[in-house]
Order: sequence, then C-alpha cells, then structure tokens
Amino acid sequence: AIGVLMTYPTSSYLEQQLSTRFNLFRLWNISHKHQFFKDNAASIQAVVPSTQLGSGADRELIDSLPALEIVSSFSVGLDKVDLEYCKEKGIRVTNTPDVLTDDVADLAIGLILATLRRICESDRYVRGGMWMNNDFKLTVKFSGKRVGILGLGRIGTAIAKRAESFNCSISYHSRSQKPESNYKYFHSVVDLASNCEILVVACALTEETRHIINREVIDALGPKGVLINIGRGPHIDEPELVSALVEGRLAGAGLDVFEHEPQVPEELFGLDNVVMVPHVGSNTVETEKAMADLVVRNLEAHFFKKPLLTPVV
Ligand code: GLV
Ligand code: GLV
Repeated sequence: AIGVLMTYPTSSYLEQQLSTRFNLFRLWNISHKHQFFKDNAASIQAVVPSTQLGSGADRELIDSLPALEIVSSFSVGLDKVDLEYCKEKGIRVTNTPDVLTDDVADLAIGLILATLRRICESDRYVRGGMWMNNDFKLTVKFSGKRVGILGLGRIGTAIAKRAESFNCSISYHSRSQKPESNYKYFHSVVDLASNCEILVVACALTEETRHIINREVIDALGPKGVLINIGRGPHIDEPELVSALVEGRLAGAGLDVFEHEPQVPEELFGLDNVVMVPHVGSNTVETEKAMADLVVRNLEAHFFKKPLLTPVV
C-alpha cells in the first residue's frame, strides 16, 4: 500500500479519508521520529502537511523520506513547504486554493466588524454583569470606510468584494498592478497605509513579504487606523505592532495569525482594541471537508498518473 504521512492531527475527517485509501502514518510525536523513519520511511510516498506548528515539509523531513513523490498540503499557504527543494528533487506539491477563499474573506470582515464595533469587548461587558453601569463606549462605523488590501489574490479579491457591499472604497498594493481590477493601486505598502483606514493583510508569505508591515507602515496607517491580518503572522513585525497598540499609535487590530503562534504576545491580552482568534480562517465544517477532499483527490490523481487538480510544483 502507498504510505502517506501526517505529522499533525489537523482534521479527523481527512485522516479517515486518507486511511480508507492509503496506509496512513500518524507521526504526532516528533521525538519518536528517528525510529519511526528507520521503520517506515521506505514506504512513505506522500506527506500531508498543514500550517500548524511543526507540521510543514522542510528540507529535513524531505531528506528523511527517500521514497517521497508528493507533498499535498492541507492549506492554501505553502510557507512551511520548501518549494525550491521540492522542485529540485522532482517532488510534486499541491495546496487547497479556492475552497477556503469564502471562509477566510468572511473571517476578515468578521474581524473588521469585531474590532471596529468592539463586539468581543461588549460581549465581555454583558457577561461581566456591567450593563447596568450603562457606560459602554461608542464604537466606530465600518460602512463607507477606506479599505486597503495588501495582496489582491483570490482571498484579497473576495475581501474587497465583501467590503464593497459595505460601501467601502477599495485600494490595494500587490507585487504588480492587476489590469483587470478597477480598485486604486498603490505602488508601495506605505502609500496604501497612508490612504486607507483599515489595512487588511491578505498576501502569501514569502521572503519579500516577511515583515512587510513594519513600523513605517504602521505609522502611515496611524492612530485612527486598524490593521487586520488573515495572512501569516510573520507578515507583521509583531513587537512593532504591540508597541504601536500599547502606545496608541494604532487604533486597533484584528488578528487570526501570529508571528510565533500558538504563542501570542502577552501585552495584547490586556488590550480591548485587539481581537484575536487562533488561526481559524478556514476552519468551518464545510471547508474542512472540501479541503480534505481536495487533498485526497490530488493524491489519487498523482498515484493514478492523472493530472493534479491544484498543482503548485
Ligand atoms: C491557512 O492558513 C491556509 O494556508 O490554508
Ligand atoms: C492566497 O493564497 C490566495 O488564494 O489569495
């Protein structure tokens, strides 16, 4: 049987689908990997990584698996897969685009609303029995705001469309201007940040986009600006974000991802203008299934020598 390796329990539905078709290896405890690879590496022809801690496909893992033919990631982002090395070694790589676009875009809008309208803080207020004090502060309107999107890919475009329905004006920055888009293009992230009130990070994490949100960008967004990140934690220079929020140089932030997740800077815990969720952009019942099915269909295509559905390498 074809051996497939998972190194993190991301989805029990996915495990179940894989185990009915392949010989599924679950390596949840990486400290056992030496013996594990000795016993099983020769039969492992596929790896299914995810975005969770320690569950990518780096050079070390690839080098431990001499029979590896395909990396089929349970994610759209591939920053934890060594794409160059896979290319070099002739290992195919697939991801899960499209099926999660709506969910991630929905969550981006949710984070904008939760941050501006202080939904989480007001929930804490009600639960804390404070309503009778009748002192909940006014919040900030979303409809009609200027929204800047960093990365006008599938997800960025889906966020822009949603924001348009809130009568927001949309601008963006990406590596190159998109001729098919009518949104206003800015040549730099700083210009984008200077010209919007809500900046949404929706690009892929690469060497060029690591820390693309630095102090200069944060200061350009300014004390009335709100930063939303549904991309990857390392897009933002996190200590700079924390100090801007603590010092009031930024109005608020809505964050699905963190630079050292699952570690979150403790300074953020005391700030009511920050909304934090644990990297759950695509975590819905519907999308978990769609992503898992796509992973399985890519693996089947590969092993039946058919074209991959969503190849990256
Ligand atoms: C989630 O973060 C993904 O890349 O799918
Ligand atoms: C990002 O990877 C996207 O699909 O927009």
